[in-house]
Amino acid sequence: MVESVYMAKKRVLSGIRATGRLHLGNYLGAVKGMLVLQDNPDYETFYMVADLHTLTTPYSPRELKNNTREVVMDYLSAGLDPEKSTIFIQSYVPEHVELAYLFSTAVSIARMQHLPTYKEKVKQYPQNVNVGLLNYPILMAADILAYKAPLVPTGIDQEPHLEITREIARKMNEKYGLSFPEPTRFVTEGEYVPSLTGEGKMAKTVEGSSIYLTDSLEAIKEKLAKTPTDSGRGEKVPEKGGVATLLELVELFEGGAEREKYEKMYLGEGIRYSELKEKLAQAIYKEIEPIQKRRAVLEKDPSYVERVLEDGAKRARAVARGTLDEVKKSMGLI
Ligand code: TRP
Repeated sequence: MVESVYMAKKRVLSGIRATGRLHLGNYLGAVKGMLVLQDNPDYETFYMVADLHTLTTPYSPRELKNNTREVVMDYLSAGLDPEKSTIFIQSYVPEHVELAYLFSTAVSIARMQHLPTYKEKVKQYPQNVNVGLLNYPILMAADILAYKAPLVPTGIDQEPHLEITREIARKMNEKYGLSFPEPTRFVTEGEYVPSLTGEGKMAKTVEGSSIYLTDSLEAIKEKLAKTPTDSGRGEKVPEKGGVATLLELVELFEGGAEREKYEKMYLGEGIRYSELKEKLAQAIYKEIEPIQKRRAVLEKDPSYVERVLEDGAKRARAVARGTLDEVKKSMGLI
């Protein structure tokens, strides 16, 4: 074929749930990867806000629309560019849901119930174990496979869902003669950003855990001030807790050499945390300040954001529609 002279662009799909403004964990773990792939001309990138996934855990219907817009604003201010990427909202592309239903017939209930991510949610919200939660990874597989995307820039916590996506792709290919890729995760340097509380990863749902892209320098300082520390010296550099969190953030925002310097101090004369925290706050703010400046400009023109989303949904639907038709044909529906 003539087209084969030109290498077809590889597609990329990613999304973040619509739970409000983004924090450093979202930024380093997902958005930075999205930016790298957006700026690589070998890729065609689709980035969405997963508002439908948000419905599976307790949320406020009154706030959802605004929270979805907040993520879009963070995307755009972090540098996602509608000239280069298709930026859209999941629920504006109903083909995802239709595809998810078709995929749901290709996986067993037992397989879904055994997923660690599902079990965690059941533990976290025992009063809210709904079928949407069980279907969560199937909808995510539909998000990705609607674009036949082989590459997904997302956090390490999404790995079990990508495994399900690969299983669904294989099954659909075997059973119906389709040719879905088996998607892999695009890994970024800051794929695991620890919580300021010193326990687990940075998470919106945990009080005092996160620094948001919209936080002022003052707010960052106040938050870091609350991260628990110790006397600043000892025989072994802590691998867990607040001190480990601080050192990890130092590495992510000030570099590995700076972290090593602090580690030596810990084993020697001791770290002065007030100084460490001051420098760290400055370094974090330096990285997010340009994002805040772009956000301020965007906030002046809400209609621009709506135009981006309308255009994004149109472009996304054209691709998703094609995949859906193909799947429906192969399954004997049309
Ligand atoms: N489950 C992802 C998260 O919680 C969000 C998501 C939904 C997603 N659909 C996706 C990520 C498709 C990557 C690809 O972060």
